[in-house]
Amino acid sequence: MTLAAGLPGTLIALLVFCLSIIATRSEALGRFTAAYARLARLPKPTFEPVDVSTFVRRVVELETRLSVAVRPGPSATIDADRDQLEQLLINLLRNAVDATLQTNGGVAVEWTKRAGFLDLYVDDDGHGLADTANLFVPFFTTKPGGSGIGLVLSRQIAEAHGGSVTLESRETGGCRARLRLPLRHPDPQRVPTVAGVLRRG
Ligand SMILES: Nc1ncnc2c1ncn2[C@@H]1O[C@H](COP(=O)(O)OP(=O)(O)O)[C@@H](O)[C@H]1O
Ligand SMILES: [Mg+2]
Repeated sequence: MTLAAGLPGTLIALLVFCLSIIATRSEALGRFTAAYARLARLPKPTFEPVDVSTFVRRVVELETRLSVAVRPGPSATIDADRDQLEQLLINLLRNAVDATLQTNGGVAVEWTKRAGFLDLYVDDDGHGLADTANLFVPFFTTKPGGSGIGLVLSRQIAEAHGGSVTLESRETGGCRARLRLPLRHPDPQRVPTVAGVLRRG
């Protein structure tokens, strides 16, 4: 004999309704705590030289929903934690693709070097940004099922690398995310200094 046997139908319906609310809320809470833990536990970056072109091409391949265009910029190397940087670029690409899927547009990545920094751009053809005030506020999301931590985590990672992440609407429509990171310093051992040259005679 099951538990429900002998209970009136309306009571069973009420029970099912209540249990489904509990299930939905606990799933949402599970997502929230997992996301919160990821935010709170960002380890210190382990830096290694990363070739930008190779890195971008590899991460772009991870996006399966649409083919992201890579517009290669100048050859560039940065000092970065590969795993963290990958997570950052995945987050920016995921947002760009989320936005673009609504408009059937495209997503492109390009980069340039400016005054000792790498500027890497992720451009999309989505609807752009309606309100920029809360973008980097933890758990802010406009997506059903969104976590609202992608951008804040990306910014945290960029800042731990001495860089930044910004987001703006493009004049032609859509959105441009800019990741700015310091370029790798040349190896100090191999740069001839005046003192070194004089010492060697
Ligand atoms: N490329 C983009 N185009 C339009 N809106 C964006 C874009 N990237 C981020 N956003 C906005 O910023 C919000 C927060 O993004 P994010 O922190 O990655 O969380 P999530 O993707 O889980 O919503 C998104 O919900 C969306 O409203
Ligand atoms: Mg996101």
